[in-house]
Amino acid sequence: MKTVLVAQSKGGVGKSTLVCLQAMALNHCGVAVAVCDLDMQGTTSSWLTEQLPKLPNIEILPQPDTKPSRPAALLLIDTAGRGDFAAIMDTMPAADLYLVPATPAIEDIRIAGKTVALLKQHRPQAVIRLIWNRIREGHSDSDETYLQAFTEQIGVPALRNRIHESKPYRDARFPPPTGGWARATTSKYAKELPAVATEILSLLV
Ligand SMILES: Nc1ncnc2c1ncn2[C@@H]1O[C@H](COP(=O)(O)OP(=O)(O)OP(=O)(O)O)[C@@H](O)[C@H]1O
Ligand SMILES: [Mg+2]
Repeated sequence: MKTVLVAQSKGGVGKSTLVCLQAMALNHCGVAVAVCDLDMQGTTSSWLTEQLPKLPNIEILPQPDTKPSRPAALLLIDTAGRGDFAAIMDTMPAADLYLVPATPAIEDIRIAGKTVALLKQHRPQAVIRLIWNRIREGHSDSDETYLQAFTEQIGVPALRNRIHESKPYRDARFPPPTGGWARATTSKYAKELPAVATEILSLLV
């Protein structure tokens, strides 16, 4: 089982959204996943627990080292967005891939840079990727130049696939039938969810 840890010390950048929608996208593709929520806020565990009857290939683990009751290809770990990231760094489980979400907002980008620097310092061998979230409709060439420049400055590649700003993604937090995977797929960008999942899997072979 490969481990993907989603980390960004800035709150509200989409860590839990990424973990939940990716767990659901992988589930939809028939890939068995385990999910562990290390944020005491419990966003990811409560979100997924509400949807579990409809998610046969997802198991929530209380701890990252808990053995899943059935084989899972991937363990997705959500982490907390507040507090002193440097202080908790050493308590974070090792992962095969570290995903650092950032939105195209200057403060998110600045903290993404700090998160990446800390990961590089504490986990020199780590495979780290940025993932851009909340890309707005009408993302222009100049917005693109700015994202490319920040990606270069942060010093790790970004996933080729990005997540757009989309109300159906936000509403996917509601329990089924209103929310969940079915709601996420009403986004006009929904194809990017399996595309991100495939790109993540390709980094783990
Ligand atoms: N692509 C998106 N489109 C629309 N809304 C989004 C998107 N990504 C995240 N959001 C919304 O932004 C808010 C914060 O997202 P989320 O809870 O995933 O962030 P987080 O990084 O896990 O926050 P925390 O650090 O508090 O755990 C939520 O209301 C979520 O629905
Ligand atoms: Mg969260």
